[in-house]
Amino acid sequence: MKVLIIGADGQVGRELRETAPLGMEVTAVGHGTLDITNAPALRQMVLEFQPQILINAAAYTAVDKAEQEREIAFTVNAEGPAHLAVLAQENRIRFVHLSTDFIFDGQQSRPYRPEAPPNPLGVYGASKQAGEQRVREILGQEALIVRTAWVYSAFGHNFVKTMLRLMRERDTLNVVADQVGTPTWAKGLASALWKMVELRLTGTHHWTDAGVASWYDFAQAIQEEGLNRGLLLHPVALHPIPTTLYPTPAQRPAFSVLDKTDTWQALGYTADHWRVALCKMLQRVGRHG
Ligand SMILES: NC(=O)c1ccc[n+]([C@@H]2O[C@H](COP(=O)([O-])OP(=O)(O)OC[C@H]3O[C@@H](n4cnc5c(N)ncnc54)[C@H](OP(=O)(O)O)[C@@H]3O)[C@@H](O)[C@H]2O)c1
Repeated sequence: MKVLIIGADGQVGRELRETAPLGMEVTAVGHGTLDITNAPALRQMVLEFQPQILINAAAYTAVDKAEQEREIAFTVNAEGPAHLAVLAQENRIRFVHLSTDFIFDGQQSRPYRPEAPPNPLGVYGASKQAGEQRVREILGQEALIVRTAWVYSAFGHNFVKTMLRLMRERDTLNVVADQVGTPTWAKGLASALWKMVELRLTGTHHWTDAGVASWYDFAQAIQEEGLNRGLLLHPVALHPIPTTLYPTPAQRPAFSVLDKTDTWQALGYTADHWRVALCKMLQRVGRHG
């Protein structure tokens, strides 16, 4: 199977490269090589590599900056996937696209099922929802769209790495405690994506690690596990605060938990609990510095 991964230098792209199963002939291109908004360059790349599977891990993910950069966010997150979907349709390539919990408004108190109505709170979520829509308009149910949430990895910028840095620099930290979701290790997500490819899943699926946490719970766990592993030398005082005390340009969903029941059933396995996955990731950070 020839697979072309676009956005291959991001958190999920890197883990997709690392976890590619035997038998997958992977070509991975990052932002430096290929801009998803450049339709002729995408076409050239597809003609050159002739993949059977196209995975889009590229996205404009700067949630707060997107409030000021609406046009760029929509060009990358909606037009880019649309270009890829057209190429997939024309060349009979299977298309895998990633999306986000931020398409929901977080007003539910039960996990969001894939068919729940979207209602994004900010520009990033709206641009990702538009991307989903464009892909569905072009490929119908043939595309595989996988929504995930709260992604972290040993690669790139994310909450875990930011917390470890701040915990080394400061004595106290305030962390938002009234937004809940599920921290998700990109490596587990990447392995699940490969399994979905192998099983030829299509339609809209949800994947995160198992369980639920607030950002404050997540920070507590990072501190405890960081201290256990010698990644942190001293504890810092962590204070739970409401979102109102940490205003950001983009509003975030208060309840961001995705219902993964159908996906787990289709895959035949359940994700690790988020804390188990966090320990595995920290072991890796410990090994690689
Ligand atoms: N991170 C999360 O918490 C999260 C949560 C829910 C869903 N998701 C979704 O999961 C997917 C992967 O996210 P991630 O965490 O791996 O994000 P990431 O680490 O920010 O990676 C995204 C990659 O896309 C690249 N990119 C940006 N604009 C591009 C363009 N015009 N052309 C080509 N590549 C471009 C970025 O390159 P530069 O760094 O050079 O800009 C980066 O390498 C995305 O669809 C995202 O929406 C992520």
